[in-house]
Amino acid sequence: MTVEPYDAVDVIRAKRDGGVVPEPALRWMVDAYTRGYVSDAQMASFAMAVFQRGMERDEIRVLTDAMIASGERMSFAALGKRTVDKHSTGGVGDKITLPLAPLVASFGVAVPQLSGRGLGHTGGTLDKLEAIPGWRAALSNEEMFAQMQGDVGAVICAAGSGLAPADKKLYALRDVTGTVEAIPLIASSIMSKKIAEGTDALVLDVKFGSGAFMQDIDRARELARTMVALGTDSGVATTALLTDMNVPLGLAIGNANEVRESVEILAGGGPADVRALTVALAKEMLALAGQPDADVEAALDDGRAMDSWKAMIRAQDGDPDAPLPVARETHVVTAPADGVMTRMDALPFGIAAWRLGAGRARAEDPVVHEAGIDLHAKPGDRVTKGQPLFTLSAADEARFPRAIDALEDAWELGDTAPEAGPIVRERITA
Ligand code: URA
Repeated sequence: MTVEPYDAVDVIRAKRDGGVVPEPALRWMVDAYTRGYVSDAQMASFAMAVFQRGMERDEIRVLTDAMIASGERMSFAALGKRTVDKHSTGGVGDKITLPLAPLVASFGVAVPQLSGRGLGHTGGTLDKLEAIPGWRAALSNEEMFAQMQGDVGAVICAAGSGLAPADKKLYALRDVTGTVEAIPLIASSIMSKKIAEGTDALVLDVKFGSGAFMQDIDRARELARTMVALGTDSGVATTALLTDMNVPLGLAIGNANEVRESVEILAGGGPADVRALTVALAKEMLALAGQPDADVEAALDDGRAMDSWKAMIRAQDGDPDAPLPVARETHVVTAPADGVMTRMDALPFGIAAWRLGAGRARAEDPVVHEAGIDLHAKPGDRVTKGQPLFTLSAADEARFPRAIDALEDAWELGDTAPEAGPIVRERITA
């Protein structure tokens, strides 16, 4: 029988009491948890100690490295092209990956966008794309390579189970133990997967506000700086943008309707905030790929990005021209008076869309692709009494009352338009 070199209780106590966990003990803790020797109860206790006490930069680096070492490491070196990925910390109506990946690929850069499914109120990129008839999220490593190597260039697919399995286990545990919102744990979780994936460069969209993990910009900045340092130290050129997630992004929250909005962006139109963020992230990605002067807006306006999208969807057996699913039941919320929309909080809109069936409460649940919310007014818009404000869509009208409840205090009409700040607030580099 192998003798374990450390005791989980000692590691937990060290962190609980505010100490620094020595590198070998921290590496062991992650490895022993992945092997099942350290129990869920012990790891949950350790995660709570990290939540309360934090970690030093070097501890976060070791934790990240240990999670990378728990699984496979991919490499795209054989592609002969620069690879650039994007990661968003998640928000309401955040469909940016859909137009962004093909847009960047239209400049000859490979985009390996390994994505996930949604849990709770933030939607998952794969759930959105699965609204497209025939589209397939599961690709083998060989298929992924072939798609990036060839003319398509961009791939959005499910991350294989071999990447950072320690994180998979730990993230599921954090989800049910109130330990998600700890900066060292979020940073190591996200960056372990991105570094293991083998991308050359990475742009992080770190969100702050009511619909984000981080409510205030100072915590978002700290998270961004931590992740940029982790990426840079591992040889991945990393930049982060701090972006506003107080208000839902765009006019569509759901799955099929977010695909529709993404296609509008790829056709050169769409809501101004979605276009602005897509363009800002694309410029950052292309700058890291050695094309700082790329005319990103022209590629949206002249059809190049749309051609790239259609090729990407077809390569994964989807039909980009097929009609998207439409909900059987709708409920329209109208303006109770004349006025200006002064406030819309992202989080309750995310929760309402989730309750309509656009998201899942348990990892094994399906999502309803046609469920969601279409917004007809955003902060600053003037409305008249009786005008439609939001259309709620669901497969079953029994879903409406709880969604309407969620929206009860989520928005306000007043007299004066609020000050609108830019969507991108700060840029963080190494
Ligand atoms: N996304 C992740 O992958 N991990 C986290 O901890 C939070 C968001």
